[in-house]
Amino acid sequence: MLQEKDHLIWHPFTQEKLAPANVPIVSAKGVWLKAEDGRNILDGISSWWTNVHGHSNKYLADAIYKQALTMEHVIFAGFTHPKALELSERILDKVGDNYSKVFFSDNGSTSNEVALKMAMQYFHNKGEIKNKIIAFQDSYHGDTFGVMSTGGRGSFTAAFEPNLFDVYHLDAPNGKNEAHIIKQLTSYVKNDDIAAFAFEPLVMGTAGMVMYSNELLEKLCAICKAHGILTIADEVFTGFYRAGDFFSYQGTKVLPDLICMSKGLTGGTMTLGLTVCTQDIYDAFYSDDKLKMFSHGHSYTGNPLACSAACASLDLFDKPETRSNIEQLMGFHTSFKSELEVFDCFENIRQKGTILAFEVKTEEEDSYFNPIRNKLYDFFLSREVLLRPLGNTVYLVPPYCITKDEYNIIKKVVLELGEAIKNQEF
Ligand SMILES: Cc1ncc(COP(=O)(O)O)c(C=O)c1O
Repeated sequence: MLQEKDHLIWHPFTQEKLAPANVPIVSAKGVWLKAEDGRNILDGISSWWTNVHGHSNKYLADAIYKQALTMEHVIFAGFTHPKALELSERILDKVGDNYSKVFFSDNGSTSNEVALKMAMQYFHNKGEIKNKIIAFQDSYHGDTFGVMSTGGRGSFTAAFEPNLFDVYHLDAPNGKNEAHIIKQLTSYVKNDDIAAFAFEPLVMGTAGMVMYSNELLEKLCAICKAHGILTIADEVFTGFYRAGDFFSYQGTKVLPDLICMSKGLTGGTMTLGLTVCTQDIYDAFYSDDKLKMFSHGHSYTGNPLACSAACASLDLFDKPETRSNIEQLMGFHTSFKSELEVFDCFENIRQKGTILAFEVKTEEEDSYFNPIRNKLYDFFLSREVLLRPLGNTVYLVPPYCITKDEYNIIKKVVLELGEAIKNQEF
């Protein structure tokens, strides 16, 4: 049994002493995870929000295989290669004329880390001292030190607090505090040391699927632009249609200076991060002075296997079936939303694109550490559906290829939860 050897592994975001044994998964297809014990578990969260086209997609697998036989990797400094060029051209086409350069890294955290460093060095290279960041409290941009500093401060970051740099934090949006947030920003921008405003556009995933308005984002970004502050859109979760538009900022009037992407970029197959920037940012680094270069890169930067997966994923996004699957999933969510609304035990039922979320009412406050979380997780998993609540926030972000019958399996389990809570059997 695989589980017997699992003590060798230290799993992520897991209190190993308290957590139940990890479930060995031996294969996966479409929305299904096949466990070693024979169970078929429906992946209702796209395996940490990465998988958009379904697991073990043949088209993606063939592209990676073909690339592996052609060239698995090559150093990306001093060399370039066809799949990185193709991917850059296609991503620049998706983001539009405002952008002209693509920087490669390995994951969502590094794509954001790169953006922060670019923003700070942009001003440094111009001889201006601007190295502070504005961000939302409760936001999440990853786990490296820069993005930990930028993100929400709390128990995840407590041990590192003395090592994190100062950030001007805006209150997290809650639907009632927009005017207050704008006031906070207006007072922050009086300081002349701010390099950038970093944000998750319209949906703050890890914060508990917090959704906020286009108008708020537009106003905040307009204030930043007026004060020469760069804007960084973290599309790691929201991108690739997760929040409805190809990139979430594209549904707004905002034109960020830097865009970070990962997760759905490779269709959930290979690890890759991209940071896209404007010509203006690039120009601040382009110089006869070697010290002005961007001194950042990883061994696997521009990995051809990851690039080939991303290009193949873009091929799939260009197919009408994928568009109609996305529309269909959004439709499933919209009609399920009204079914959930009849339950008193569920509140704040909300949807943005292919994301559906709600809170389960409890005596405690809505939070990542709400004690109901494990009970909910176990309830779903014991019914062979993987939903991974953020505290008492339940959310559904399955792969886009989910069929009506498969979606109905998730629905049935969530409705069963509603009934169980209503009948005080939970
Ligand atoms: C908005 C956002 N940014 C960054 C990250 C970090 O990405 P990664 O886990 O690939 O480092 C995440 C991960 O969930 C995320 O949701």
